[in-house]
Amino acid sequence: QTVSLIGVPTDIGAGHRGASMGPEALRVAGLGERLVARGLKVVDRGNLQGPLNPWLPPDNGYRHLDEVATWNMAVHTAVRQELQAGRIPVMLGGDHCLAIGSISAVADYCRDQGKKLRVLWLDAHADFNTSNATPSGNIHGMPVACLCGNGPAELVGIGNHTPSTTPDVFRQIGIRSVDDGEKKLVREYGMKVFDMRHIDEVGMKRTMEEALAGLDEDTHLHVSFDVDFLDPPIAPGVGTTVSGGPTYREAQLCMEMIADTGRLASLDIVELNPAYDVHNQTGELAVELVESLFGKSTLIR
Ligand code: ARG
Ligand code: MN
Ligand code: MN
Ligand code: MN
Repeated sequence: QTVSLIGVPTDIGAGHRGASMGPEALRVAGLGERLVARGLKVVDRGNLQGPLNPWLPPDNGYRHLDEVATWNMAVHTAVRQELQAGRIPVMLGGDHCLAIGSISAVADYCRDQGKKLRVLWLDAHADFNTSNATPSGNIHGMPVACLCGNGPAELVGIGNHTPSTTPDVFRQIGIRSVDDGEKKLVREYGMKVFDMRHIDEVGMKRTMEEALAGLDEDTHLHVSFDVDFLDPPIAPGVGTTVSGGPTYREAQLCMEMIADTGRLASLDIVELNPAYDVHNQTGELAVELVESLFGKSTLIR
């Protein structure tokens, strides 16, 4: 199997600068080498290019809408190309708005191949805002809504199908920060959210069994890993920390159980922000967890 690393150096959708440095921090933490050590072939496509961050205030409920659309068209094209060639695209983010481009491409690919899609959204946030519900205008808080058709035409229209996908493909895990207006939308659309309370009550093991239930050999599994999923003391290098996230052990188990399905076919690693990190602690942790996601275990592989 071949993994394609695709750098997406953007903080265009975020409320803090610096996630644009994430791709290089992941490379410096040894992501490519670790995947090679897992027995994978790795090609590094380098970084995609797109507009610089003009750092403007929100306009009509969106900050940098045109720039976000331009970046995501590039992401969509790159991901579609790698999938078509039979490779596993791994996005090195970059802020979470890039999931609009990556998941729309994955969804288009699944349609063409007659495959089912499952998206695991590992995040402190539901990222289900709209221009009305958003407290910030930051589009990294909106990708799931856009992918489900609830967003501006510039983003909802990316790819061959509108909407790109449907709420039922998502399982959101680790959620602990949802804005007031966003809560209503999450309920209205019937999002399947395994929030921190659920993890507290039933544990990570059962949570993952539930989130992974129903996968079969025709399922394409996409993981969208927002590093702010993790508990802030172990992962300070993100712009939007929320206390009370999964521990190191819980995060490892989460990744290991995904690996055990053997279905992982595409991945986003997003919101790593080296400007907030301590040395490259969070980058290194993200790489360690991605090793587990690709099957690293203590005694077998
Ligand atoms: N809910 C907040 C907002 O919409 C924060 C979103 C954070 N999203 C992220 N991908 N880090 O502004
Ligand atoms: Mn988040
Ligand atoms: Mn679309
Ligand atoms: Mn996110």
